[in-house]
Amino acid sequence: MRQSLDGLDPSSAGSAPQLVALLRELRAASGLSIREVSRRARDRGDGLPTSTLAAVLNRDAVPRAEVVAALVRACGGDEAAVETWLAQCARISAADVADTGQVPRQLPGAPHAFTGRERELHLIDEHLQSASPRSVVLAGPAGIGKTALALHWAHRSLDAFPDGQLYVDLRGFSGTDPLAPGPVLHRFLTALGTGPEEVPADGDERAAMFRSLLGHRRVLVVLDNARSPEQLRDLLPGTGGSTALITARTDLFGLTATHGVPHLRLAPLTREESMDLLDAMIGRGRVATDPEAARGLAAACGDLPLALRLAACQTLAHPEQTIGELRDRIAEAPLANLDLPGDEAAGLRACLDLTRDRLDAADRDVLDAIGL
Ligand SMILES: Nc1ncnc2c1ncn2[C@@H]1O[C@H](COP(=O)(O)OP(=O)(O)O)[C@@H](O)[C@H]1O
Ligand SMILES: [Mg+2]
Repeated sequence: MRQSLDGLDPSSAGSAPQLVALLRELRAASGLSIREVSRRARDRGDGLPTSTLAAVLNRDAVPRAEVVAALVRACGGDEAAVETWLAQCARISAADVADTGQVPRQLPGAPHAFTGRERELHLIDEHLQSASPRSVVLAGPAGIGKTALALHWAHRSLDAFPDGQLYVDLRGFSGTDPLAPGPVLHRFLTALGTGPEEVPADGDERAAMFRSLLGHRRVLVVLDNARSPEQLRDLLPGTGGSTALITARTDLFGLTATHGVPHLRLAPLTREESMDLLDAMIGRGRVATDPEAARGLAAACGDLPLALRLAACQTLAHPEQTIGELRDRIAEAPLANLDLPGDEAAGLRACLDLTRDRLDAADRDVLDAIGL
């Protein structure tokens, strides 16, 4: 029986019908009837009812992994043989899905009035050229501009990803539970054209299918606000033309250790970039009328993009107030003056309160620099 099993090579099947034909041959070579295969499977603890087996062997679709595994085992295959069959099933399913050509466009819009970060954009390009698999982590404290940088890079690189862009907020620091990889994979697989009933129940198989799909295509995956390496491992592309951009408030060195994923730690904007951001937001030459006060305002905001934007909103809301006055108020009490009345969720307090106790020392230094 072993010999006849070895003679059947699942990787020779290039389509679902060919794979099912090979499974029929496997059953025939075992010398067992369908009923006997089913009984053996049951004796081994695998559920494989006769009716299921008969139906699967008469259809042209790739059967579910549990069915294939039970059949191969009952016909005398060892675990290595089971793996080989399952890998081929995943390959064929992925190729079938690739043929449906569904192109997801999940990126949120490009950030408004994005300013500076030329050096960082260039570093991302460099990291992604050399990293394998192609992934990079953008790390830094709340409000430093990780998501904005990731989205800006993504929008300017759309041509490199003709097979689409996937985006998820992993809710690593949003006060609710971080998203688990399983449901994220489900969402991504269906976005790439997998029917919900074709998504494997088993986590490892799900991840394998995702990697197969990404390997066939050039897709950008933006994994925003990640919590831990464990949350990310199954969401990274393997080999092939796809790329992952990850943002996180903590360094995820575990990913560097296990997957060689490089890190880019974001610093606050340069003072010149801060001035450009204020200019882009406030407009009408107000920055030019009192550049010294604008510099002071940028300093009071610690050159943190979130703080700068909130300060710019205050300036727009109170045109009677000079930039110098706002600078003085913010220097006195940053939190109180950088919250947006009526939009508490967007304010600095909301962003920082959630995370202060989860920050590491380097993050705290940045916040301390602006007196928070
Ligand atoms: N380089 C930049 N130019 C203009 N606005 C920026 C820049 N970086 C960040 N912002 C803005 O600052 C705010 C906070 O940035 P965000 O990317 O959400 O921070 P993070 O993801 O690090 O918490 C957002 O409103 C964002 O659009
Ligand atoms: Mg973010």
